[in-house]
Amino acid sequence: MKVLMVCLGNICRSPLAEGILQHKADEQNLGWEIDSAGTGSWHTGEAPHRLSQKIARNHGIDISHLRARQFRKEDMLNFDKVYVMDNENYNDVRRMSGNLFDENKVDLILNVLHPNRNEEVPDPWYVNTDAAFEEVFQMLDEAGEAIIKNNQSTIFDNQ
Ligand code: 4NP
Repeated sequence: MKVLMVCLGNICRSPLAEGILQHKADEQNLGWEIDSAGTGSWHTGEAPHRLSQKIARNHGIDISHLRARQFRKEDMLNFDKVYVMDNENYNDVRRMSGNLFDENKVDLILNVLHPNRNEEVPDPWYVNTDAAFEEVFQMLDEAGEAIIKNNQSTIFDNQ
């Protein structure tokens, strides 16, 4: 299973989402490959935001090695699922993917918890507090747990 996490800058939300899901998948030896990207290119090559790194580390997850990159339309072919954080990300991914856009692969990440509600992961960049990043961590942790659980029940259903 190859999963891409997408946000705007690829320095706050999506690197956290990547680190959390990779950590959970590795704990269960699932062999999943998780990556992340931003719809914007301003932060290309940068490590995750200081507070994303700090909050992840508080929960035993090291994301310091991750580096930001911009989403490219080939990602739509290279990944099985693309989870976006908010509606702007969704629209940008659709526009940037052109004729490669596959609506079956792309979803708002919180829809794994509350299907079809289209709830958004708030951008902590503008708030810039430990509490804002911790709140995002908790949302993404719950979503990551559900992604793994849903996938396992799908495998079970198919057997
Ligand atoms: P992210 O947060 O999309 O969660 O990585 C942001 C990071 C940078 C900017 C905006 C949001 N920015 O405007 O540079």
